[in-house]
Amino acid sequence: MRDLAERIKVIGISRIEESLRILEQKPEIISLGAGEPDFPAPKNVVNAAKKYLEKGYTHYAPLQGKIELLEALEKKLKKENRINASKEEIIVTCGSKEAIFLAVSTLVNPGEEVIIPDPGYIAYKPIVEFLGGKAVSLKLREEDNFEVHPEELKKLINKRTKLIIINSPSNPTGTVLKKKTLEEIADIAIEKNLFILADEAYEKLVYDDAKHISIASLNGMKNYVITTQTFSKTYAMCGLRIGYAVAPENIIKEMKEFKICTTLAAPTAFQLAAVEALKGSKKYVEKMRKEYNRRRKMLVKRLNQIPKISCIKPEGAFYAFPNIGELKMSSEKITQFLLEKAKVIVIPGTEFGKYGEGFVRLSYATAYEKIEEAMNRIEEAIRKL
Ligand SMILES: Cc1ncc(COP(=O)(O)O)c(C=O)c1O
Repeated sequence: MRDLAERIKVIGISRIEESLRILEQKPEIISLGAGEPDFPAPKNVVNAAKKYLEKGYTHYAPLQGKIELLEALEKKLKKENRINASKEEIIVTCGSKEAIFLAVSTLVNPGEEVIIPDPGYIAYKPIVEFLGGKAVSLKLREEDNFEVHPEELKKLINKRTKLIIINSPSNPTGTVLKKKTLEEIADIAIEKNLFILADEAYEKLVYDDAKHISIASLNGMKNYVITTQTFSKTYAMCGLRIGYAVAPENIIKEMKEFKICTTLAAPTAFQLAAVEALKGSKKYVEKMRKEYNRRRKMLVKRLNQIPKISCIKPEGAFYAFPNIGELKMSSEKITQFLLEKAKVIVIPGTEFGKYGEGFVRLSYATAYEKIEEAMNRIEEAIRKL
């Protein structure tokens, strides 16, 4: 057989997660590896999806998305994110992952640099590199609560820099960027004439006093920012694959062109079900958030009771990112150790970039009782070390 394309080398990155997913099928193993809600999608959304499928909405949707959804999103963005975007400035995608891919395709030339958070969501680096760009890690530090440090960000910028990716609330750290930090990032983008991709997949999952703020809503930022959001996490609709991007019209127009080469359109009936999600009651969303919050408090408390493990309290998303450095084992080793001795799946911090070494990610998108049992097992295994 002839060689495969060179670019396969940039997408070997999530193999660990993949193999852990296979192990999840074993009943004795508890997985804290999940990156998706354990709740089913809301009933009104499921009913709407069924209704539209039965009504025959089984054809392609327009490239940019169904008009009903674009209109509902226009309202949502104004009301909930203070982003004043017109319908022409929104594109519906197959999950926000596609929105990120289309945005990077539209903005970044081969050889240009994209600053990504590290530790950060695993998809950024391969997407940038797949498209010929260079991913440059912005080190996020535990002592800063994994906030972006504007001065450090500035130091990474050179004439090849084109785009800065920010993610708040963050996967994997759970950090919610403060308004002051966002303002400083905004000032840097304006001063250096750079685009910002704001990945807001977990916008509704914030706890305690944390507030989610869209950087695109800050004064003068609209022309610099591509915001990506999704129905996956807020409405537990991961498998329905409905996300979207909001950006200046010329960018959306080009993303639309690229969409011809990717998915053409997001699923028609599920776009209409997403309209139902936006228009329906938000009680279910709040119920899920409250339950995540209950689990978060217990998980972080339990982690901090284990010798040689410490965990800062994450303010958003559904992940804890404890420091395991004192155990004197690499993130991969401790992941393997916990799988063998505690029969618990966690994700090594290095999956999220080189600065994730010394940490592991635990997801609390799993039943409370399961998390409790997992913590009993982890504590026992580590105390025996
Ligand atoms: C930070 C972040 N962004 C984007 C996504 C993509 O989600 P989706 O494509 O389902 O919208 C995920 C999924 O885990 C994520 O964690």
